[in-house]
Amino acid sequence: MELLKNRIIKDGKIKEGNVLKVDAFLNHQLDIELFEKIGEEFKRRFEGKEVTKILTIEASGIAIACIAARYFKVPVVFAKKTQTKNIAGDVYTSKVESFTHGKVYDIIVSKEFLNVDDKVLIIDDFLANGKALLGLVDLITAAGAEVIGAGIVIEKGFQEGGKTIRDKGIKLESLAIIKEMSVEGGVIFS
Ligand code: G4P
Ligand code: NA
Ligand code: NA
Repeated sequence: MELLKNRIIKDGKIKEGNVLKVDAFLNHQLDIELFEKIGEEFKRRFEGKEVTKILTIEASGIAIACIAARYFKVPVVFAKKTQTKNIAGDVYTSKVESFTHGKVYDIIVSKEFLNVDDKVLIIDDFLANGKALLGLVDLITAAGAEVIGAGIVIEKGFQEGGKTIRDKGIKLESLAIIKEMSVEGGVIFS
């Protein structure tokens, strides 16, 4: 998606440790006109697929999922991150290991909001190592629902997440895939 790639080049800031800051339009200040174009593009990439629900994860996936949902006309469910030990039996849970934050956390979604009939599109802002995405796939599978695919705004193609997800046979649509990036050389897309 050219508009998005140009925006990343214009406003993205490359930090040490292979981190791309996109606080100007995606992670802190939110450019809703851009979000609308992104939502439209996700709809186009999944044209002809039946989707009954969008699933994302708090916090930064929620905003983009909500705008995308306007085009799919379905509800958004977001998985909650929790460190609670005693989780009630009325939720699906999965463990996510965060490479960036160096810790393991549980994600949960109420059984009330994911059903065996659901055809679920996963939406998230970033794909890096893919552990959060795999956790979301776990929750959908636990519910007996169907994974239609995953729509990602920015995929860090030099990390393993994209390969992991595609190897599982999941339709993955990333609107910008970063091949490499460095403070000196900037961002290079695939
Ligand atoms: P992963 O295995 O799920 O792919 O992610 P990882 O633990 O490596 O990353 C932890 C968090 O950092 C995730 O946000 C992920 O989206 C985000 N992230 C990874 N690389 C980048 C990057 O280069 N730039 C930015 N801006 N974010 C990145 P999260 O756990 O969903 O946290 P939250 O921000 O939604 O609360
Ligand atoms: Na994030
Ligand atoms: Na996210």
